[in-house]
Amino acid sequence: ARQEAALTMARRILLTDADHRDLTLDYLKLLTGRQRLRPAAPREVLVVGAGVAGMVCARLLLAAGHKVRVLEANRSRVGGRVKTFRGDLWQDPRLHAEAGAMRIPSSHVLTLALADHLKVPRRPFHLVDVPPQPDLASGDARVVYRSWTGEEFATGTAPAYTAPKGLGGRLVHVNGQTVSKAAYAADPGPVNKSFGWDSTLTAGAAFDRALDTARAYTMVKNGDGTWSDKPIEQRVTGMAQLLYDLDGYSLLRYLQESEGWSDAQVQAVGTLENLTSRLSYGFLHSVFDASDINPAVTYFEFSAGTDALTEALAKDLPIERGRVVTQVRLGDGGVTVVAEPESGPEDEACEGAIGGDRCEYRADAVVLAVPYAALRHVDFDPILPYGKRRAIAELKHDTAHKVLVEFTERWWEWDEDTWRAKLGTDYRPAPHGDAVAAVGGGCVSDEASRFVYFPSHPSDDGAPGGIVLAAYNWAEDALRFDALTPADRHTEALDHLAGLFGERIRRYATDRHVSQSWLRNRWALGEAVIETPGQLLSLGPQVAAPVADRLFFAGDHCQPRYHAWISGAIASGVEAAVQLTSG
Ligand code: ARG
Repeated sequence: ARQEAALTMARRILLTDADHRDLTLDYLKLLTGRQRLRPAAPREVLVVGAGVAGMVCARLLLAAGHKVRVLEANRSRVGGRVKTFRGDLWQDPRLHAEAGAMRIPSSHVLTLALADHLKVPRRPFHLVDVPPQPDLASGDARVVYRSWTGEEFATGTAPAYTAPKGLGGRLVHVNGQTVSKAAYAADPGPVNKSFGWDSTLTAGAAFDRALDTARAYTMVKNGDGTWSDKPIEQRVTGMAQLLYDLDGYSLLRYLQESEGWSDAQVQAVGTLENLTSRLSYGFLHSVFDASDINPAVTYFEFSAGTDALTEALAKDLPIERGRVVTQVRLGDGGVTVVAEPESGPEDEACEGAIGGDRCEYRADAVVLAVPYAALRHVDFDPILPYGKRRAIAELKHDTAHKVLVEFTERWWEWDEDTWRAKLGTDYRPAPHGDAVAAVGGGCVSDEASRFVYFPSHPSDDGAPGGIVLAAYNWAEDALRFDALTPADRHTEALDHLAGLFGERIRRYATDRHVSQSWLRNRWALGEAVIETPGQLLSLGPQVAAPVADRLFFAGDHCQPRYHAWISGAIASGVEAAVQLTSG
């Protein structure tokens, strides 16, 4: 049974089936209208949840001639974990910043192709710091997907774009030492030693090397040190074997047992590479994450905010807002759904409550496209199959916390000469070396704020200021930030920035800051599913499986390769639409 689960999940992770079809290619064509869903007798479909998954599914079903309605719990917005803070929240209402999804790896072709199809403008997102030159033209860069079938899919004809290398001017601050990323890369020894880890490798290089054991299951190493995918048949069996062998491993156990890492190395690399808070989570998640989040990846962001994508998806969709689904009854031939209004104070932490007059909806089929944990608060009649209930109850939902801080000027783009000119006689040197003129990139620190991200672009609509993601935390790190009051979070994040870049930054801080806890969000109930050891195989096969040909499931939790990514939500939404029309 474990072997069978491994094969099922291997296919799901690689988006393929028993015939080695390339589902990514199929989904790309469906999303961009080059292909249609199989014609089927029109059904009345209720989609629950106007996040990316639900809206993608609804659009495909509508285009195929089905009668579709979407129910959304939030009164005030659609988009789910795509959420852009804009307008009055900021002193300068021209600014915007992301509470949720913010960066799209260029390999996430489903997201980019859908956005391009909907004409949602994008531009590069810089994970590393680059010179502050406008690179807006590269936003329409083509993104290419080369299938194992030999077919190629491109999002456009504009030249491709590869992100430049970072300047290395942002800071590493651990164990009381503060050095630039460039200094750490040139001589990792002293920082590593401060953890008791005696190595001349950077933390990033050490972790990359540690993943070779996992890579070898599905890839071959070339003479020049790069890796290439094995043929698809071997990738599937290799992925199944990888799951079979290592799904039971936490990241910590893998690093210790398979790679022989010392505690000191685990701590050093964990702290610098954002692994510490997830050491107890399933190892496979870190393998996937490492290929999506690393300095060599090219990213895009949506120029007008990520919610430009969800607003484009919502356009012309029949969405009823403020409807919280509380009951789903399977009757003969159809489904009855009971929804109650969202009511109560609209509170930033909890976003609404439930109560008031309920109403009933009848449909032929229902797509449940809400975060998995939310289904625990829905009554199903008859109860869902055992495996499904277990998955809903037990799948680990991680949390993420972001603190966004507004500044009146973009001091992170200034070099030391600019600082001198700005401050005149008030000028004091930076505490940790001269400032480098740059946009994007960020700092890593072992203090509570942990990860800082600077905006990738000089300006929003000519605004002189900008919003810094002053603390982005996951898991345990996020929980501890969650427990603070909003004012405490601001103080913590601002003190941290002042410690790194000098007291001189404080004069540009406005009193505006917004933080987002995804765990405390009433309708999200967490950041995303990230399995604990063993869950991919024991629960994974149940997650997306339809029930009685009438209940379908969508959401990034349904796509194990892309939990916590828009691409996962999109793939799952397409999959649900395909399932619904192929019965
Ligand atoms: N996609 C989000 C980001 O870019 C979350 C990443 C966390 N990774 C994950 N697989 N949960 O930060």
